[in-house]
This record gives sequence, C-alpha cells and structure tokens, in this order.
Amino acid sequence: SATILAASMFSAASAADLTVGFSQIGSESGWRAAETTLTKQQAEERGIDLKFADAQQKQENQIKALRSFIAQGVDAILMAPVVATGWDEVLQEAKDADIPVILLDRKVDASDDLYLTAVTSDTVHEGKVAGQWLVDTVAGKPCNVVELQGTTGSSPAIDRKKGFEEAIAGHDNLKIVRSQTGDFTRTKGKEVMESFLKAEDGGKNICALYAHNDDMAVGAIQAIKEAGLKPGKDILVVSIDSVPDIFQAMAAGEANATVELTPNMAGPAFDALEAYRKDGKVPPKWIQTESKLYTQADDPMKVYEAKKGLGY
Ligand code: AHR
Repeated sequence: SATILAASMFSAASAADLTVGFSQIGSESGWRAAETTLTKQQAEERGIDLKFADAQQKQENQIKALRSFIAQGVDAILMAPVVATGWDEVLQEAKDADIPVILLDRKVDASDDLYLTAVTSDTVHEGKVAGQWLVDTVAGKPCNVVELQGTTGSSPAIDRKKGFEEAIAGHDNLKIVRSQTGDFTRTKGKEVMESFLKAEDGGKNICALYAHNDDMAVGAIQAIKEAGLKPGKDILVVSIDSVPDIFQAMAAGEANATVELTPNMAGPAFDALEAYRKDGKVPPKWIQTESKLYTQADDPMKVYEAKKGLGY
C-alpha cells in the first residue's frame, strides 16, 4: 500500500535530522510576513534545518528555488505557490528525486500525486463567509460593492472571488460594480481604491468594499478617508486574514469584518512531514485549517493584543 511504500522509502528519521527547503512567495502582506516568521520558529523548535528562499512574487524564482533544493538533496520542500498553474514539470522533478513537497496556504492546478499534501484553508468558504456577512448586514438594501482581488492567477484570489459571488447570488440588491487586482498589497489596495472612488462619483456610489486580504483593505481605508468619506460607515469594509492592523481599524470603526486565516501553516505541515518520515503515515491530500469571522462586536482591541504575539 502507499503507507508501506512510504515507510520503506525512508528510514526512520527524527525532526532533528531533517533539512527542509521553503520557497516563500515574498512579503506582500502582514499575513505573509507572519507565516514566514512562524515557519522559521516552528523549524527551530523542532530542530529542522530550514533553507529559506524568498521568490519576490515571481514564479520563475520559485521554480529555481525548488530546483536548487532538489540539487541539494533536501529531505522535503515546503512551497507557497504564487499562482496556481505551471508547476507540473518541477513537481515531477521533485517526485522523481523522492523529495516530498508540501503546499502551504495556496493550491496548484496539478495532479495531486505530485505533492504530499496541501495545508490550506477553504478559500472558497472564506469568500462565502465575507459575502454572507454583507448579505446579512445590508439586509435587502441596495448596495454597490467594489472588490479588490488578490494576485491574479493565485488560488485564493480565484476562490475568494468565487465564494463571495456564490454568497451574494440571488440577492439582487447587491451588485459588484468594480473588481480589480490589488495584488494583496497595501499600496496597490490604496491605489486601486482611489481609482474606484474616482470612477464612482467620489465614492458616493459605493456602499461596500470587499478586499481579498486585510492589507488591501487597510490601504483602501486610507483612500476612503482621503476622499472625505468614512470607512466602516459610508463604505462598509469586509476582508480576509485577521491581521492585527485590521482589528485596530475595526476598533476605530473604520473596518467592519474580517475572516481569519491562520499564519501557522507550518505547524500542521511539519507534523504531517514528521509522521510521514518517522512512521510512514501518508497524510490526506488536504489538511484544512480553520476559518472564523470577526466583527466589531468581538472586542477588536483584545483580539489585536492577542494576535500580536502570534508571529505578527
Ligand atoms: O495565500 C494566502 C494569502 O496570501 C493571504 O490572504 C494574503 O494576505 C497573502 O498574501
């Protein structure tokens, strides 16, 4: 069976024996920076020798990093794939070299026998939760929504759009009037929101912003304020991640809701890897992390304080 095969492929190894390559996307958001911090911490605590490569948002850099990890003969590879497509060849190379790959926080469009497991949230569900929050909050009133999408071609951008659209489908009072990528960054979020505001009568025509991550929402909040409007009131703000900064904005009444994504993807990933290497236990192809909705009713400053110690 697959389990027996895995056990025979590797001799029993403790975490301390493991060398793991980690191909990270970059540092586009507060969430991403926290994921990097926690992955390094987790590796250190477990005595794993972590080789870190920052791809600076470029898939070609990730492919190069993977090839370099393969050439070095690492025991395993963690990868947060910047986009969903174009991985088949390099994943096949890792497989041929018997190096298990674990995907972190984003998925790939490739056969699932090319990687060991994927540790991600249900990103469609996140979009649905955000959309449902808006449906409930506007309670039938007409509402023009602008959407800041994540990185084009990335699995969370595709899924969060889909989930949100599914949640608002059938609610004709809600209409997405503008939708553009803000690349998951604060700067781009602000810039694109400025263009949305200009195009929609200085923002008077906009009732809500849905941002695929908090960083873009934080940038957009700034743009809304500079346009002379009140974020959180004139324009409702709902986003995803639950980084500390969004709780400060929520405490100030400038953001309304956020869906939590844990930055600790490495914990479950290393657990799965250790069980695989030590006991030959083959993990499921998807290790799902929790998603949770926070609103202004959840004592945002308390959550802010609690979050700060957790990699942020
Ligand atoms: O893949 C997870 C997403 O990537 C986070 O929501 C976003 O902040 C990050 O850049």
